[in-house]
Amino acid sequence: MKILFIGDVVGSPGRDMVSEYLPKIKSKFHPHITIINGENAAGGKGITEKIYRNFLSSGAQAVTLGNHTWDNREIFEFIDSAKYLVRPGNYPDDTPGKGIVYCNYNGLEVAIINIQGRTFLPSIDCPFNKVDELIMEAKKKTSIIFVDFHAEATSEKQAMGWYLDGRVTAVVGTHTHVQTADNRILPNGTAYITDVGMTGPYDGILGVERSAVIKRFKTSLPVRFEVTSGRTQLNAVLIDVNDKTGKAEAIKRVLINDDHPFFE
Ligand SMILES: [Fe+2]
Ligand SMILES: [Fe+2]
Repeated sequence: MKILFIGDVVGSPGRDMVSEYLPKIKSKFHPHITIINGENAAGGKGITEKIYRNFLSSGAQAVTLGNHTWDNREIFEFIDSAKYLVRPGNYPDDTPGKGIVYCNYNGLEVAIINIQGRTFLPSIDCPFNKVDELIMEAKKKTSIIFVDFHAEATSEKQAMGWYLDGRVTAVVGTHTHVQTADNRILPNGTAYITDVGMTGPYDGILGVERSAVIKRFKTSLPVRFEVTSGRTQLNAVLIDVNDKTGKAEAIKRVLINDDHPFFE
């Protein structure tokens, strides 16, 4: 089985890239399961029900989130009924939504877990303890377990990769929006990358209009962050999975932008 994971989709430029390139990526690489991180899909902040449903109808089987989960208030109205929407599992117990979802391809169950780091991010429940719990739950159903670890610190992401090596199919990092070149299969069969990158503006700062970000760094004044326009990019990874063992056999980066054009 092949799993395609698309990094943080930012605003309408990111959604447009998904609409344009997901069909092309599918016809070139033939993934069986597609997962999209949608935490920035609605104007850079959160996700709406319409966007979630559009991702599913454009060919994704599940949508993961992150620290921007609650930024669009509409989330509270649909998260509990959105079967394939997964938010960080280590939010406190009373939080709406869920940290694990399952999808199915050809009789094979795939567990998708979202978990959030807490280095330079809000101090929520321990991601390492919580992921153990979610993996125990997933193992009752399947050995194909995909983890989107939404975290800021490279060290915390590497720690999670090594912590889960051999226990899950993949640990992919999200949140920092810049694709890292350290994709590898860890010794016990877990696919790993520190950050998949983002899908949206190519010439912004992590997708945000540059002058506001620069002003913020220079002055520390409050500024409004808007998704920038102009050239766009799509960042993703493709993972080959051994259906019988749930171990990963390859992880390949997909980077589409003006400097790395897509060849069909
Ligand atoms: Fe993000
Ligand atoms: Fe994030």
